[in-house]
Amino acid sequence: MNLDRKTFLRRLGVGAVGLAAGASTRGEQRAAAAAWPVYSERDPEPYWSAIRAQYLLTPGFAYLNTGGLGPAAGPVLDVFEKTSRRLQEKSETGHGLFAEARKVLARFLGAEPAEISFVRNATEGNGLIAAGLALKAGDEVIFDDHAHPGGAFPWINQGKQRGVVVRMFEPSVVDAAGNLARIAALITPRTRVVQVSHVTAPTGIVLPVVEIAKLCRERGIWFHIDGAQSAGMFPFSLREIGCDSYATSGHKWIGGPHETGVLFIRREKLEQVAPAMVGAYSSDQADLSMAMTFVAGTQRHEYGTRNAAAVVALAAAAETQERIGRERIAARGRAMVARVRAGIAALPEVEILTPANPELSAAMIAFRTPRIAYDKLFGRLLGEHRLRCRPVSEQKLDAVRVSLHLCNGLDECDRLVAAMTAILKKT
Ligand SMILES: Cc1ncc(COP(=O)(O)O)c(C=O)c1O
Repeated sequence: MNLDRKTFLRRLGVGAVGLAAGASTRGEQRAAAAAWPVYSERDPEPYWSAIRAQYLLTPGFAYLNTGGLGPAAGPVLDVFEKTSRRLQEKSETGHGLFAEARKVLARFLGAEPAEISFVRNATEGNGLIAAGLALKAGDEVIFDDHAHPGGAFPWINQGKQRGVVVRMFEPSVVDAAGNLARIAALITPRTRVVQVSHVTAPTGIVLPVVEIAKLCRERGIWFHIDGAQSAGMFPFSLREIGCDSYATSGHKWIGGPHETGVLFIRREKLEQVAPAMVGAYSSDQADLSMAMTFVAGTQRHEYGTRNAAAVVALAAAAETQERIGRERIAARGRAMVARVRAGIAALPEVEILTPANPELSAAMIAFRTPRIAYDKLFGRLLGEHRLRCRPVSEQKLDAVRVSLHLCNGLDECDRLVAAMTAILKKT
């Protein structure tokens, strides 16, 4: 039996969206829906506190590392657990639940359902593009040298396996046009692919993806975005950006369960990416003829038995963000970063590496001080102040990165500034 997601969730007794998603009876659903906080422009803090209260994070422990791994809210975990249990009752795969989840993630990313494939993480999505494009020895790929290993290693591996040549540019914190120019300067007649981190992992720079997409289109170059840090941090539309492919993690800013991710391939470009791994569900052919044909859409990159509960819960997390408001979430992240920035900037000998320009940054901020090594600073923030940041060792940046999202509050921004003040006083 292959239930669709709506029927399944109805039988499960959970609402499809947000807070109601974890309720198991109609009464609980009604109560959960009624409990959804009301947003007041004049006094938004009670709203944000109610959202934050859904997370399981240990009280007093400030988790400032959504960019590393985003916590999932309790109702999302409830959907995950209940879906798992319900599937186990009849030992079903839940494959019929994917179609509805695909619609949700397509809407969330500004794409069509046929352009969406569920993968395990952003790394897998990046790897499928790197392995699937028809590249030969000497073909060139350009990417940013702030790329995470999950974005860089798939290409470096293609260098080892197929002789693809890697060229890197350093993203500028000063102006978006500067980043475009740096990419343009590396393009040669052998350039086949440009990849950028939508938001760079070490310092949270937002790269000008619309302009890069245009440049690539004009030059006939494939444009792939490593969006591990963007989906769920701020809203955008992949169709409007105009990239050829995009990969993201579900377990960071969207707040889905661990080991969830999405790969987008633009409909018109689908056939240019050879599936690196195939199996049942990549093709709906029942016989084993050599003329195996793939299912229509990016979905062909899914194969074999999957964790349907994780995909359903990822969709519930995305729907919850839609209910809160994607712009509202982005504005909240920027406001918290601005609060940290103002406090940190007033401290002596602290350098902020993330650009202040709101077009070039969003919900992450990285900073360093010559007074204390980045790993020691990270350790002291955690050990002495219970503030979990992320050490930044990449490119000898020697900084600490802070991510601010729905699980955080203004009090934690102030705690961070107070902790930095105390640490610098004692150092
Ligand atoms: C830009 C970027 N790409 C890829 C990754 C890897 O993500 P995942 O482990 O979910 O594949 C990260 C993780 O922080 C990242 O920041």
